[in-house]
Amino acid sequence: MVRSLLPLGAALLGASAVLAQDPPTCSLDKKCPKEAPCCSQYGQCGVGAFCLGGCDPRMSYSIDSCLPAPVCKDKVYKMDSLDRYKDISQYMGDPDTADWVGQGEPLLYNGNVLLTMPPKSVGTVLASTRYMWYGNVKARVKSSRGAGVVTAFILYSDVKDEIDYEWVGADLNTVQTNYYFQGITDYGNSGNISVPDTYNEFHEYEIQWTPDEIRWLVDGKLGRVKKKSETWNATANQWNFPQTPSRVQLSIWPGGLETNLEGTINWAGGKVDWNHEEIRNYGYYFATFAEVSVECWKTDTPPGTNKGRTYWYTDALATNNTVVDGDKPSVIKSFLATGLDPNKGASKNVTLDPAQTSAVHAIPGGSVLAPGNIPGIDSPSSSSSTRSGPAPPCATSGFSQACGEAEDATNTNNGARSVDRTMGASAFAVVVGFAALLLL
Ligand SMILES: *[C@@H]1O[C@H](CO)[C@@H](O)[C@H](O)[C@H]1NC(C)=O
Ligand SMILES: *[C@@H]1O[C@H](CO)[C@@H](O)[C@H](O)[C@H]1NC(C)=O
Ligand SMILES: *[C@@H]1O[C@H](CO)[C@@H](O)[C@H](O)[C@H]1NC(C)=O
Ligand SMILES: *[C@@H]1O[C@H](CO)[C@@H](O)[C@H](O)[C@H]1NC(C)=O
Repeated sequence: MVRSLLPLGAALLGASAVLAQDPPTCSLDKKCPKEAPCCSQYGQCGVGAFCLGGCDPRMSYSIDSCLPAPVCKDKVYKMDSLDRYKDISQYMGDPDTADWVGQGEPLLYNGNVLLTMPPKSVGTVLASTRYMWYGNVKARVKSSRGAGVVTAFILYSDVKDEIDYEWVGADLNTVQTNYYFQGITDYGNSGNISVPDTYNEFHEYEIQWTPDEIRWLVDGKLGRVKKKSETWNATANQWNFPQTPSRVQLSIWPGGLETNLEGTINWAGGKVDWNHEEIRNYGYYFATFAEVSVECWKTDTPPGTNKGRTYWYTDALATNNTVVDGDKPSVIKSFLATGLDPNKGASKNVTLDPAQTSAVHAIPGGSVLAPGNIPGIDSPSSSSSTRSGPAPPCATSGFSQACGEAEDATNTNNGARSVDRTMGASAFAVVVGFAALLLL
């Protein structure tokens, strides 16, 4: 499924040699264990940031393992500064502290935010800290270009409902639209809209999402409509229509990585050329976001309200009548906390028990605090925890990313290689989680 998910989970795998332990993975059939109860967007279990945005309650230890999600607020995000952006390793669930949380290399350029993808990296992703439960969202975007390079502007819920705009860098006169219900793959749902010169010109791309239909508009002109009434699934006895609170996600990612599935590479217009003009001129591929605005759905009765502080789910069915709009807090007190124990690690008195350390995966994807020596974990070579170090090539299949060997792999534990491939991000996360904990 969902190709647009690549960057976050696979980001910055420079420290992939840290841990020998298998990270628990999760799916609908395999929920997370109690000690690492939260199933991240990428299908790995952990605590801390794993329990924030993207945490899937259906695959987690229990329906309340994930933290509740901040409700929608009308807002225009100017995208003319990175003051309201936090790396995922710095964000603890309070939307007053950040509008966007992400991973990779966002930059400010000419009063706009560039999402960049340096050579051999997996790009950059930003996710809004607040969720939309229906409503309108629009963004002024200049897409990236180049075969295999994909720009995305999507709505994405914690149970994997999804509404997309995607630009494939090999065709700069088209934007692709798509939607998914609970992550069920159905590539027949995509549709194209013609747009002139998506790379050189800003256009305004809008998603209008109501309980009854999705409308995609480009520069104010309707390009596509999908009605809920067209999405009945008689087998499942439900509407295969996006219906749950969703974050806005902006990203650039390498659909055309050599290690990706052939279908994904072809869809992305071929393999990424790491010696492309963009790389030679600027040092990275990039997409430009000028402004994003969110207008929440207005209603007094569910579905689609925004009355309380947070949304959460009461049932793993995860249809819109299982969503509550209420007042539970959304914040964790440390990167050891979970929805089951949001205050865990709040006092400075936490013991860093090495045995426990290796079981804790705190940040999905994680980046970039120089950790030094963490008790109980072989420390990576110091050079492997730099911010911009090239990440190894990664592929996505389903939610899990499989990554090839880093060019400068420091891993000597060949026995753990296959594990490292899918878990590098989590291993790094442990390091970051504990570094963060030590700083509390
Ligand atoms: C959309 O356009 C791409 C080329 O950019 C093409 O490969 C694809 O088949 C089109 N999809 C649909 C549904 O027409
Ligand atoms: C309909 O629901 C069934 C059961 O959940 C699922 O396996 C199937 O993929 C769905 N069909 C479509 C077209 O999404
Ligand atoms: C959302 O909930 C309403 C009321 O419970 C229901 O009638 C509607 O079919 C649901 N929408 C979708 C897309 O399932
Ligand atoms: C810190 O932990 C120790 C051992 O668990 C305990 O005896 C002590 O009371 C704790 N101190 C505080 C301030 O919580």
